[in-house]
Amino acid sequence: MKNILVIHGPNLNLLGMREPEIYGRLTLDDINRNLSQKAENMGVSITFFQHNAESALVDRIQLTMTDGADFIIINPAAFTHTSVAMRDALAAVNVPFIEVHLSNIFSRETFRHHSYFSDLAVGVISGLGAKGYELALEYALTKR
Ligand code: DQA
Repeated sequence: MKNILVIHGPNLNLLGMREPEIYGRLTLDDINRNLSQKAENMGVSITFFQHNAESALVDRIQLTMTDGADFIIINPAAFTHTSVAMRDALAAVNVPFIEVHLSNIFSRETFRHHSYFSDLAVGVISGLGAKGYELALEYALTKR
């Protein structure tokens, strides 16, 4: 069985209430529930982790060295543009990952145009809203 880990970075716990014109009206629970349903239909195991602290996110990434995660779907949120520590953790564990952003980071402020993750990622999905997570999951499932 394939084990997929979905990691959500800071402030994504506020989805639904947070700048809905940019991030949409679905809550994080809505997004996770939808992904759970899809994973269950495909018979794969999926786990979710959201945290606002960089250290907790680094620790969770490091855990994939021993927890059997085969694939990571990650929205590093604001840490996309700042976190060498999370980048190094992903490089260290060597688990393939897709970087997802709800908004199109390239059509926003210039400080959002750079990601510390994209060159390590299998792929990047940015600007397709919650659908981006679904597409990432579909891709991960084809890699079984
Ligand atoms: C985001 C884009 C980031 O620039 C921002 O800091 C976020 C969310 C997105 O999903 O569009 O918190 O990753």
